[in-house]
Amino acid sequence: MCWVVQERYKYVDKMENNEMNKKIRLGVLTSGGDAPGMNAAIRAVVRSGIYYGAEVYGIRNGYAGLIDGKIELMKASSVSDVLHRGGTILQTARSRQFMTDEGRKYALKNLERHGIDNLVVIGGDGSLRGGMSLAGEGINVMGIPCTIDNDLPYTERTIGFDTAVNTVLSAISNVRDTSSSHERVTIIEVMGRKCGNIAMWAGIAGGAESILIPEQPVNLEEVCENVTQGRRRGKLHNLIIKAEGVELDSRQLAELICNKTGMEVRIVVPGYIQRGGCPTANDRMLASDMALYAVDLIKSGKKRMQAIGISGGKVFGQSLEKALMVKRNMNNDYIRLAKILSI
Ligand code: F6P
Repeated sequence: MCWVVQERYKYVDKMENNEMNKKIRLGVLTSGGDAPGMNAAIRAVVRSGIYYGAEVYGIRNGYAGLIDGKIELMKASSVSDVLHRGGTILQTARSRQFMTDEGRKYALKNLERHGIDNLVVIGGDGSLRGGMSLAGEGINVMGIPCTIDNDLPYTERTIGFDTAVNTVLSAISNVRDTSSSHERVTIIEVMGRKCGNIAMWAGIAGGAESILIPEQPVNLEEVCENVTQGRRRGKLHNLIIKAEGVELDSRQLAELICNKTGMEVRIVVPGYIQRGGCPTANDRMLASDMALYAVDLIKSGKKRMQAIGISGGKVFGQSLEKALMVKRNMNNDYIRLAKILSI
């Protein structure tokens, strides 16, 4: 057992002697876009809650289900056989109604009806912000960052990112084969909203010739120069990984490259394939570790709204409000790395 985990157990053991024996009721929901590892996080919340003697309620369909009262008591067996599954067994939604005062009023009423005053929210930026609005009404909220986008800068990693990057990598390998066979340029457009992390990681790990991210202006000259230089050196393919958040449309980009270089250009959009699938070991570990941390904080009995994150391999909790204020930047080392390795 690593020292970080040992430290945490010491902390919990101490709590077990005082406040921890009180019956705790906690709710868990998944919200926003699903991500591989969500089930691992649900499982760890349910099992650790039950381990500590709490009643754990699963809320279906995210905040929409909270408004509709889709709340049910979970057992340890409710989360059997889910660790390896993508998607979310609790299902998810993006609820417009929850953004209204009336919607939130219903949500709070339903929590009150079940005596739930602790809520674990598993999701991305919008979901954690939703949690904050409930925290303002006296609910103890724990936010677990779970989105393929890895766009929550307070934490080094979000659950689901590693799996999504590996899914894109597998697509890149397949595309490379056909791209080389036909001597084509291929643009692979990946998800990530306004964040270029999936593109950057998959691009570097997949040996892309160009990586286009929303955090940087597109340098079309450089992209085309990469294509012509590569051709001169005998490269059979040219792979361009483009994040969906880049403003230039992929079809427009393809046309521009074709006109400038005379090469055939194809576009591949893996789309929702990136969101599904069996989570990697890294995502399962991260989900399990973060979820237990959240439940440990709830068991500590103090009222707080916390965002759970990871830094340097160590899981931590910090004020949800502060966490959501951290500004996002692309890591300059990665930009440099991508540039040097793609010559
Ligand atoms: O946030 C996850 C994500 O997959 C983004 O990468 C993408 O832009 C968005 O969700 C798609 O959302 P929807 O499921 O609403 O189409």
